[in-house]
Amino acid sequence: MTTKNFNDNFIRACRREKSDYIPIWFMRQAGRYQAEYRDVRKKYSLLEICRHPDVCAEVTLLPVAQLNVDAAILFSDITLPLGPMGINFDIVENVGPVIHNPVREAKDVDRILAFDPSQSLEYVGTTIELLKRELKVPLIGFVGAPFTLASYIIEGGPSKSYLKTKTFMYAQTEAWHKLMDILATEMANYLRYQVNKGAAAIQVFDSWVGSLSIEDYRDYVFPHMTKMFSLLKDLDVPLIHFGVVSGHLLPMMKDCRATVVGLDWRVRIDESWKLLNYEVAVQGNLDPAVLVAPENIVHKKTHQILEQIDRPGFIFNLGHGIMPQADGDTLKRIVDQVHEYQLKF
Ligand code: CP3
Repeated sequence: MTTKNFNDNFIRACRREKSDYIPIWFMRQAGRYQAEYRDVRKKYSLLEICRHPDVCAEVTLLPVAQLNVDAAILFSDITLPLGPMGINFDIVENVGPVIHNPVREAKDVDRILAFDPSQSLEYVGTTIELLKRELKVPLIGFVGAPFTLASYIIEGGPSKSYLKTKTFMYAQTEAWHKLMDILATEMANYLRYQVNKGAAAIQVFDSWVGSLSIEDYRDYVFPHMTKMFSLLKDLDVPLIHFGVVSGHLLPMMKDCRATVVGLDWRVRIDESWKLLNYEVAVQGNLDPAVLVAPENIVHKKTHQILEQIDRPGFIFNLGHGIMPQADGDTLKRIVDQVHEYQLKF
């Protein structure tokens, strides 16, 4: 971290230490909005990119060079560890992950396997090693949170209502907790592997947990999140905990003991940070739809976020991933605006 020319502003902000300027990166900063990425996708499927460390490293590096962001995120997908766990899936264009053998009954949980990432996902480790040599910014590793993964495993694919997931949760509660415990344990293990290989921070994506009430989060999810984060306590890297439509869950997310909480655009940064007692750093929260807005609107919305920041510990990001319709020049302008912003502290 002390190497000359290494930009550690992102890590400092995660630790609520002073940084030279507000650091910024974008969720899904490598993706279909880039012509170069679309070209790579003509030759390789998403999973093939992940299995070829040289291609995967190249795709990860693309936005770092193009946008001048302060962190790289490993190019991968939250579904990658499902294969070694005996859950067979494909990623279908414009749909997302589709599971061929979903969990529907209590006994289906028994066929889920523990796995050794250094064996089954060795290519991820190789990609991280390649990236470590190239990068002058920190690399973020990631996993899907147990609830979000369970929702794919049980629904069999993307869902709007999460009805199958909730039915399983309420009616097969014992099997639910068993499934969540396996996912929490295996994802902690996989995160540890990514950190051992060189990831400087990690993000846990709980993209779909906002579908739960406060009580259901407490009873069916919270114990597993706290277990997962406690398994990682000895690692000396920031842990980012991100959810979507999860403003109502913020007090409990704080108690999960991550270093950073990720916010979407439905909440204000200043109010949420106060609610979190300033005990964590925060990351967010520009609406990804703003990326298709006229230049003056983008500038205004970016400024509206920046002016809420009155202390160290903020990382600028979107409230969710970049959409394929986004404009690369707009992203670049946001990075410049954030970097040039005069800090109030
Ligand atoms: O640059 C980065 O942020 C790293 C890349 C990344 C991908 N998936 C690659 C990808 C990350 C961080 C993810 C995480 C992920 N995957 C999440 C959590 C974050 C979120 O967006 O909520 C979820 C829920 C998934 C599952 C998944 N995989 C979805 C919903 C989709 C999109 C379906 C579609 O086609 O729009 C995927 C496919 C996927 N994973 C793409 C990318 C770049 C897009 C499709 C492609 O390039 O083929």
